Amino acid sequence: MNEDQGLDNTRRITSSDDLEVSAYLEMSQEKAGYGLVSEGEISPQRESILIVDFGSQYSRLIARRVRESSVYCEIIAHNTEWGAVEDLNPKGIILSGGPASVYDETSPLAPLWVFESGLPILGICYGMQVLVHQLGGKVAASTKKEYGHAVLHQNKPNESLFTGLPQSLSVWMSHADQVTELPPGFVSMAHTDNSPIAVVGNDKGILGIQFHPEVVHTPQGSNIIENFLTKTCNMGQTWTPGNFVSDSINRIREQVGKGKVICALSGGVDSAVAATLVHRAVGDQLTCIFVNNGLMRRDEPDRVRETFEKYMDINFIYSESTERFLTGLAGVIDPERKRKTIGEEFINVFDEEASKLGTVDFLTQGTLYPDVIESKTSDNSVSATIKTHHNVGGLPEHMKMELVEPLRYLFKDEVRQVGLELGLPEEMVFRQPFPGPGLAIRIMGEVTSEKLEILRAADWIVMDEIKANGLYNELWQTFAVLTGSRSVGVTGDFRTYGHVIAIRAVKSDDAMTADWARLPYDVLANISSRISNEVPDVNRVVFDITSKPPGTIEWE
Ligand code: XMP
Repeated sequence: MNEDQGLDNTRRITSSDDLEVSAYLEMSQEKAGYGLVSEGEISPQRESILIVDFGSQYSRLIARRVRESSVYCEIIAHNTEWGAVEDLNPKGIILSGGPASVYDETSPLAPLWVFESGLPILGICYGMQVLVHQLGGKVAASTKKEYGHAVLHQNKPNESLFTGLPQSLSVWMSHADQVTELPPGFVSMAHTDNSPIAVVGNDKGILGIQFHPEVVHTPQGSNIIENFLTKTCNMGQTWTPGNFVSDSINRIREQVGKGKVICALSGGVDSAVAATLVHRAVGDQLTCIFVNNGLMRRDEPDRVRETFEKYMDINFIYSESTERFLTGLAGVIDPERKRKTIGEEFINVFDEEASKLGTVDFLTQGTLYPDVIESKTSDNSVSATIKTHHNVGGLPEHMKMELVEPLRYLFKDEVRQVGLELGLPEEMVFRQPFPGPGLAIRIMGEVTSEKLEILRAADWIVMDEIKANGLYNELWQTFAVLTGSRSVGVTGDFRTYGHVIAIRAVKSDDAMTADWARLPYDVLANISSRISNEVPDVNRVVFDITSKPPGTIEWE
């Protein structure tokens, strides 16, 4: 999950980001014995690039770069059969890097169809060594490892990869092996001080590069990838949000026919975009259900309602369930027990609301591409990954529905672009992740309506100041925590004994690790004085300077 850590500033996707409601449902489907919808629904006219994954920490980053060039791609395991990818209509293949050495007997190699397909190939780092090795050249351990910046010099100007680029460019290297002998029919196209053969190619569009074009430390790396896609593979750059929307609408119509669809909205971007797409496709056949569990932030439920009911004119069920959730949470202190209680109550409410609609055939979910990759590349199903965050029971047997997952091809930032394309409010599209159990896991100890009000007021101020100071988009999450401690203070001539609020602000790429954000002192000062002045019963504000690990982002 950390392939670009420290190397790339693109915000990474987290499978726990905005999973909220759909996560409950995904797990439920798993429990009920259903898998995700079957593969192979890519429409034939969609061209793609296949990225053969050799275990590189950068494979997803390669995929991101290809998508940024408006070309569709999928990551596949190195032992995938041709029959499983034929329908993707591949126009080129990228072999990823990887930690192995090709001369080890157990090292992963490319399946033979890669070379028999006649498709253009770009091998990156280990991927280059794989193709050299398999096509009859030699790879050996180099005397000097090459790690970090290097200057690449082209031997002759080359159109297939370097169109529009200078003869020498800065690249980022990370390898211990190197190509020592070219396969028949190949030429050496570029070198660095430490790698006499840093780029290879033949006249059939098979290319290998020793450096990593996908990381930001190769400044012109995106141009190199784009040149491969457009000059060598001759691909059109048609993977755009607009095309995705029209393509999805057709697919959804085909899948759903005249059936009835439901979608649980969480307030997050994934379920919002998925629902909006389905609505565009099948209109009133879709009903969205929003459960107000009473654990959301100030104004949030009303905004969701306004967006979907009034602005998008979608069939919308607003279930006011605050009392039910608070009753269920009464006396609950253990964090996992809180999650379980909230999850179970959610399923109950969702079931009750859905059953009022009669027979429902389809359930829409905002499953994203990283979840799909995860489920394919590990033994864990998507749901198993999520389970660490959502200890809830399954949907009841009678709620059997086929899944509609229009976002299963998209990375998070593509979902945001599609959201904008669909006209969703920016506030929803760029919302920071918010956990499904909501404020309940930011109140230490028992959750009560009084504590929720205090936390909402403090959280509002934190957000207000963070947004006013233009910091919202650069932070992964920012929020207030009601710590459960009380401290002595003084207001005017009086001694007080009030709540302690903690401010949590983190930077992260994927929520797997996080660093506490160095908020400017002035911003902290304003937040602190506003909270202690404006929020009754709070007399102390502290700033959480714990990174993850050892802390988690949430306090519970
Ligand atoms: P932690 O606290 O584990 O959080 O560092 C990592 C990310 O996951 C979110 N989170 C949750 N999301 N249900 C969710 O939908 C949960 O139970 C849950 N717990 C944590 C958290 O906000 C952060 O983005």
